[in-house]
Amino acid sequence: MASLELSGINKTYDNGFVAVRDFNLAIQDKEFVVFVGPSGCGKSTTLRMIAGLESISAGELYIGDEKMNDVPSADRDIAMVFQSYALYPHMTVYDNIAFGLHLRKVPKAEIRKKVFEVSRILELEELLERKPKALSGGQKQRVAMGRAIVREPKVFLMDEPLSNLDAKLRVQMRAEIAKLHKRLQATFIYVTHDQTEAMTLGDRIVVMKDGVIMQADTPENLYNSPANMFVAGFIGTPAMSFIDVEIQGNTLKWGDCEIVAPILNVNARVAVLGVRCEDVHITNNMNQNYATVEAVEMHGADSFVTLNCGQQMLLARMDSSRAKNISGQVPVYIDINKIHLFDKENGKAIGLTKGE
Ligand SMILES: Nc1ncnc2c1ncn2[C@@H]1O[C@H](COP(=O)(O)OP(=O)(O)O)[C@@H](O)[C@H]1O
Ligand SMILES: [Mg+2]
Repeated sequence: MASLELSGINKTYDNGFVAVRDFNLAIQDKEFVVFVGPSGCGKSTTLRMIAGLESISAGELYIGDEKMNDVPSADRDIAMVFQSYALYPHMTVYDNIAFGLHLRKVPKAEIRKKVFEVSRILELEELLERKPKALSGGQKQRVAMGRAIVREPKVFLMDEPLSNLDAKLRVQMRAEIAKLHKRLQATFIYVTHDQTEAMTLGDRIVVMKDGVIMQADTPENLYNSPANMFVAGFIGTPAMSFIDVEIQGNTLKWGDCEIVAPILNVNARVAVLGVRCEDVHITNNMNQNYATVEAVEMHGADSFVTLNCGQQMLLARMDSSRAKNISGQVPVYIDINKIHLFDKENGKAIGLTKGE
């Protein structure tokens, strides 16, 4: 069993900097969990504490039923894949993959069998005799993964493994990692700063900021019910539009615009309205407002239209075929069943009781 539990985990570096603060998370056996957040938010630090490469300043780490705080890295039954592939340059692909097994005195015949099996899974069979310098970036990354897989660990830790690859290869490798997870039936913890990568890979995503968990939930829940403005703005491309509004009863007002929220339960007089671009429709509707088209950005089938709506910026998504004819003043309808509302002071989601 390779469930993990992180309970009140803290990391204070020697210089006094607190990189991770009160991190609480239970990870299930075979789950694919992604840590995501901007650079410097403590993702790698957390992963390295799980790996045993960094000491835990406070709190408890369990893998299965065993407390791991003081267990050496080599005895944690985990494998880690880094952004830098860290292959041995003078060794062939075969030897790079086999190296860890040699160290552990696994019989030669068994090593051979395992290396061939792993190279079949990762499509490295043709490359086994090559040295790393004769490999592409994607191939090197596959070798690095092969080296991790061959040990058959219960937990895989991956720290931005695709960051050095070009965009197309990244998408391809992403799919391979998802396949690998299904095939290996192991627990995966994957670190990335790329929210798209997180959304496509994770069963569950842990969004971090400044060493603190902002929200840990399924991709769907993060997208549809962000707990705060940070998560709302970080998850989803293009980013959610935020509009400062005044609240009068059930009506949200800004500039010369207003919308009536479905069920509103807020004491505050002001709040931040959050709207995703797919919930903004340039169309006549009973509840419409008017906006001015400021820019149209074509992205293939979809275009993103920047609107000045009541002197604040609102992004709308629409078919490119329609968007190319759009300019000047347009009617705008915001789908009130999809809006988000946040406390202006602390950014926390507030006040909307959503209908079915
Ligand atoms: N050895 C260290 N000593 C002091 N501060 C560190 C050390 N390693 C990392 N940090 C700081 O801890 C924070 C988190 O780093 P890290 O976990 O690498 O972030 P991420 O992986 O999310 O980009 C950063 O502000 C970084 O500068
Ligand atoms: Mg990092």
